[in-house]
Amino acid sequence: MKIHKYERKYKRDKFDCGKAPLNNYIQKNATKDIKNGACTCFIIKNDEDEVIGYYTLSTESIPIEDSPIEFQKKIKYQYVPVILLGRLALDKNHFGKGLGKFLLVNSLKRSLDVATNQIGAVAVIVDPIDEEARQYYQKYGFTLLPDSGRMFMSMKTIENAFREN
Ligand SMILES: CC(C)(COP(=O)(O)OP(=O)(O)OC[C@H]1O[C@@H](n2cnc3c(N)ncnc32)[C@H](O)[C@@H]1OP(=O)(O)O)[C@@H](O)C(=O)NCCC(=O)NCCS
Repeated sequence: MKIHKYERKYKRDKFDCGKAPLNNYIQKNATKDIKNGACTCFIIKNDEDEVIGYYTLSTESIPIEDSPIEFQKKIKYQYVPVILLGRLALDKNHFGKGLGKFLLVNSLKRSLDVATNQIGAVAVIVDPIDEEARQYYQKYGFTLLPDSGRMFMSMKTIENAFREN
């Protein structure tokens, strides 16, 4: 399975991950957001060029007081630069084959590469769409941030995970 940069030509009308906002996003909003520079989007597809999974990335900043205490001690800025994994979804027909993990790992690797070599960022954060998604991210080591409902994984943690594997 190969990761491709999103292009409008890929078919999305039948994409169904079981969650309407994530279906609507790839079907109706992704092209506009990418064109406007609001995010990048990476996909996996089948031989018929139908999207079977995708994720989006963008830059984000969070107030220092919303970040974990270890960062509050180290970073003396009002806002902390992070990368937002805004959306991650897989077509229902492909659940349980490790493809969600494949997309997640690729998004973390890409984020680490950018943060190390191109644009500084201290963590990847996610906005879990519901409790199920929260549990999914928790399983991979994301921790809940106070108040916002967002979840956080530091670049150091990501770097260490890739070093070990
Ligand atoms: C979340 C999603 C991408 C996972 O895809 P998937 O390919 O079915 O998951 P994987 O096969 O990669 O699962 C990897 C592991 O996570 C586990 N897992 C899957 N969904 C889980 C959940 N909701 N909570 C906890 N663990 C979960 C699997 O059991 C598997 O465990 P294992 O490695 O010990 O066998 C997919 O279910 C999906 O698109 N859901 C709808 C959209 C969504 O909720 N996105 C979340 C971000 S907003």
